[in-house]
Amino acid sequence: MLHRAARHARDIHWQAMQVDKAARAAQKRQTPTVVWFTGLSGAGKSTLANLLEQRLHALGCHTYLLDGDNVRHGLCRDLGFGDADRVENIRRVAEVAKLMADAGLIVLAAFISPFRAERDMARALLAAGEFVEVHVDAPLEVAEGRDVKGLYKKARRGELKNFTGLDAPYEPPLAPELHLRTDQCTPDEAVARIVGWLQAQGRLV
Ligand code: PPS
Repeated sequence: MLHRAARHARDIHWQAMQVDKAARAAQKRQTPTVVWFTGLSGAGKSTLANLLEQRLHALGCHTYLLDGDNVRHGLCRDLGFGDADRVENIRRVAEVAKLMADAGLIVLAAFISPFRAERDMARALLAAGEFVEVHVDAPLEVAEGRDVKGLYKKARRGELKNFTGLDAPYEPPLAPELHLRTDQCTPDEAVARIVGWLQAQGRLV
C-alpha cells in the first residue's frame, strides 16, 4: 500500500508559469545564487553572512539572508536540536532558499547544517554552480572561547543537550567552494574572499 504522502504526491502536478526564474533574474540583472554558510556555533556564520549582505546590497544586488537563529523563531519554531529535527530544519530552509533563488535573488543561508547529506541535498535542489558552500571554520576551542551567547557554558554545565561539537556531531565539508578560517583572518578579509570568488565565477555582474 502506498504511503499517504506518496499517494498525495502522485496526484499533484507541476504547473509551469509564464514568468520564470530567468525572466525574474533578468529583471533584477543578476545571477541567482545561494551562498550557504556552514560551521560550528560561534564560528562566525552570521557575522560573515551579515557583512556579505551589506557588501552585496551596496553593489546593488537583491539579496535575502536566512539565518538559523531567526528562522527558528518562525518557520522552524517547532523544531529542536535532535538529529531528525536538524534534518527537517535544513530540508525546509533548503526549499526556501530554492524558492528565493527561483525569485531571482542572491540568497545567503547561515545554518550550522551539521550533516553532509543535508547540505548535498540543498545543493542538489539548485542548478550547477548556483550553490556555493562556504565552510566557516574555527577550531572548537576558538568558537567556544568566543561564546557570544553563553551557550557553550550552558552546554558544559549540562543545561543544554545535543550541542554541536560537544555532544552532537558536525561533519565538515569535504570539498566546499570556499574554506575560511575565521581565527586566521578578519571578517572583512573573509568577506572580500567571498566577493572575489563570486566575481571570478561571473556570479556578480
Ligand atoms: S542546525 O543544526 O543547522 O539545525 O542549527 P541552526 O538552525 O543553524 O541553529 C543554530 C543556532 O541555534 C542555537 N542553539 C544551538 N546550536 C547548536 N546546538 C544546540 N543544541 C543549540 N541550541 C541552541 C545557537 O544560537 C545556534 O546559532 P549559531 O549562530 O550557530 O551560534
